[in-house]
Amino acid sequence: MAVNEPSLPMQAAIAAARAARGRTSPNPWVGAALVRDGTVVSVGATEPYGGAHAEAAALANVDAAGATLYTTLEPCVPFEGKRTPPCSDAIIAAGVTRVVVGLLDPHVGGHGVARLRAAGIEVEVGDGAAVITGLLRPYLRFRNSGRPYVIAKFAVSLDGMVGAPQAGVRWLTGPAAVERVHQDRDRVDAILVGSGTVLADDPALTARPGGTAASRQPVRVVLDSRGRSPVTARVFGGSTATIVATAPASPRPWKESLQQRGVTVLELEEDTTGIDLEQLLLALGQRNIVSLIAEGGPTVHAALLANDLVDEVHAYIAPRILGNGIPLLPAGTLPLALELREPVIEPLAPDVLLRGYTGSWSP
Ligand SMILES: NC(=O)c1ccc[n+]([C@@H]2O[C@H](COP(=O)([O-])OP(=O)(O)OC[C@H]3O[C@@H](n4cnc5c(N)ncnc54)[C@H](OP(=O)(O)O)[C@@H]3O)[C@@H](O)[C@H]2O)c1
Repeated sequence: MAVNEPSLPMQAAIAAARAARGRTSPNPWVGAALVRDGTVVSVGATEPYGGAHAEAAALANVDAAGATLYTTLEPCVPFEGKRTPPCSDAIIAAGVTRVVVGLLDPHVGGHGVARLRAAGIEVEVGDGAAVITGLLRPYLRFRNSGRPYVIAKFAVSLDGMVGAPQAGVRWLTGPAAVERVHQDRDRVDAILVGSGTVLADDPALTARPGGTAASRQPVRVVLDSRGRSPVTARVFGGSTATIVATAPASPRPWKESLQQRGVTVLELEEDTTGIDLEQLLLALGQRNIVSLIAEGGPTVHAALLANDLVDEVHAYIAPRILGNGIPLLPAGTLPLALELREPVIEPLAPDVLLRGYTGSWSP
């Protein structure tokens, strides 16, 4: 086994955790596998908020006495206001004698491991830690900062344009890239755009992987400090939750009309870029939004990047040269140069997705 490669039971737990990603906020997406006599006899994953945690799911309806439990993240402990029974107690009660933990949970702070050890259970930590850290990156960011993990997503031509509305070019990428975006939308808690995108494109901003509306939709968030977005815009329609972040001084009738459509209006202070983005992200974090895709135009991306609020960049590069149009980041927009860390290229013919990490935080 290569260094850092997870053990086989931990791989089963990681696969279960991966399948639960984006379904559990604000809880982490965790997987657990129970092993008896060298065989995985049960696998569980975190259920949507309020439901069972992965360890409890893996222990349900099986005889766990003397067995080993593999779990991607440290089991939780009792705390005030907790909605579900603590997993560490469930593990102790089930008679598990060994627990292999992938990663310590910053929210649990080692108390889960200590509780198990105090009950006489053998505990190992670190199996698959590197893979699990990558998988839980948004959750770890959320726990570290109280705000969502931010992915800045944009499509650009080879000459760095996000569109050329004068020439009638608004959509740059093909079906494979569009499908990839819908899959990502299906795994995040929110999508953010500015009023410029609402006015230009009137997007619905829903997750439609495989062409079908997902049963769980990310919250739509629109930045509009002055009330420029039409109340009739598609983003304000349908049953998906929508939040408008606006300035206290934006027109009251506009705000009231939005509220009548079921939109949540969030009044926030302004800074030099518009709505105070840091305050907005913290407010979204308080609403259990752990991850967010920013799909706005150049103004939103420039403001997020300049404020060091982007954790990951998804650049969809289309094989086109527009010659003229709206540049992604006009010269002088950013105070400094940025380089993506650990860049990955995904071919999505005819387009290419180039993604990587940015910002000053890493797990
Ligand atoms: N290729 C792509 O990936 C892509 C994606 C989206 C859009 N687009 C294109 O981009 C163009 C629109 O560009 P855009 O830059 O106007 O759209 P945008 O970035 O989505 O919206 C910008 C607007 O958001 C509002 N805003 C409020 N607070 C802000 C803050 N803190 N930071 C940034 N913006 C804030 C401002 O308008 P208020 O004064 O009203 O508050 C601002 O003008 C369109 O042509 C559209 O087709 C391309």
